[in-house]
Amino acid sequence: MSEKIVGIVGGGLMGVGIAIKFALTGYKTVLYEAFPARRTEIPAAMQEILGELIEENVLSPEKSTAAVARILLTADFAALKDAAIIIEAIPEVLPLKQELYQKLEALVSPSALIASNTSGFMPDVLSAKMAHRGRFLITHFWNPPHAVRLVEVVPGSATTQAYVDLTMKVMREIGSEPVLLRTPLPGFIGNRLQYAVLREALHIVHSGAADAATVDTVMKASLGPRYSVMGPLEAADFGGLETFLKISTHLMPELAKDEGMLELLRQHVDKGEKGAATGRGFYEWPEAKKRAIRKKRLQQYLRNRTP
Ligand SMILES: NC(=O)c1ccc[n+]([C@@H]2O[C@H](COP(=O)([O-])OP(=O)(O)OC[C@H]3O[C@@H](n4cnc5c(N)ncnc54)[C@H](O)[C@@H]3O)[C@@H](O)[C@H]2O)c1
Repeated sequence: MSEKIVGIVGGGLMGVGIAIKFALTGYKTVLYEAFPARRTEIPAAMQEILGELIEENVLSPEKSTAAVARILLTADFAALKDAAIIIEAIPEVLPLKQELYQKLEALVSPSALIASNTSGFMPDVLSAKMAHRGRFLITHFWNPPHAVRLVEVVPGSATTQAYVDLTMKVMREIGSEPVLLRTPLPGFIGNRLQYAVLREALHIVHSGAADAATVDTVMKASLGPRYSVMGPLEAADFGGLETFLKISTHLMPELAKDEGMLELLRQHVDKGEKGAATGRGFYEWPEAKKRAIRKKRLQQYLRNRTP
C-alpha cells in the first residue's frame, strides 16, 4: 500500500473531478466506475475538464497528458486494493453507501482512509456498519471539484485524530482548502449558508416585492463580490458589530422562517422547468448563454484558488 495511491469510487460528476485533482498532484488514481454506459463517457468528461483548465492557462497540455496517464479507469473493484485513501462518490443513497464501505473494508488495508463525498448524511450514520470506524470521515468537495477549492471535512464520533490530520494534509496537498467541522451539522456549513440565502431569495420573489432578476442583481452587485473577499462575520466586523446588532434585532424577526416560498420552486418543477439542464427555470437557458455563464463562473473560481 502506498500513500500515493488514491481510489475514487463512482465516476460521476463529482468522482471524475476529484480524480483529476489527485492525478494532477501526482497520485496514482484508481477510478472505479461500475456502470459500462457511464464508463464510456468518462474519458471525454476528463478531457472536457482538463481542456477548460488549459484554455484558462492554468494547466499545460503536457501536465494534462501526464495526469490522464496516472488515472486507471476500471470496472474491476479489486483494483482499489492498494489504495491508502478511498473517496466514495456514489449516489446519495444510504444503503448503497453503507454496503460499499463493507465491501471496501473486506478489500483494502485496515489502515486505509475511507472518506465519503456525501452532501447530507451524517458520518456516524454512514459508518454505522463499518468494522473500523476510526478511519472514516466525510470530505465534502464542491461542484465543480477541479475548480472550487473548499472541502468540508466532517469527522464522526469514532474518527481518530490521525485520520483527521491525514485528511487535512492530503486535501491541502491537492490544492484544496479544507475546513474542519468540530461536530457534524446537517448541511455542514456551506449548504446551510447557501440555503439560508435561497430561502430569503425565494421568499422575496414569492411575496411579489421583486422578481428573480432583481434579487440576483442585488446579490451580484453587492454581497457576491464582498463575500469572495470577506465572509459574513468579517463583514460584520467591518460594518461595526453595534450597528449589525441593532439591525439584526429589528430585521431578523422579519426574515422568512417557514417553507411557504417552496411553492415557487414546486410550480416550476411541476411545469418541467427544472433549471438550466432543461433550458428553463427562473430564466431561459439557451446553450450559448449556459456556456458563457459556466465559463465566467470557472474563471471566477480559478481567480479565487489561492487564499
Ligand atoms: N453533484 C453535486 O453538485 C455534488 C456536490 C457535492 C457532493 N455531492 C455528492 O457526491 C456524491 C456523488 O454525486 P454525483 O453528483 O457525482 O453523482 P453522479 O450520479 O453523477 O455519480 C455517481 C456515480 O456512481 C456510480 N454508481 C452508482 N451506483 C453505484 C454503486 N452502487 N457502486 C459504485 N458506483 C455506483 C454511477 O454510475 C455514477 O457514475 C453524492 O453523495 C452527492 O450527494 C454532489
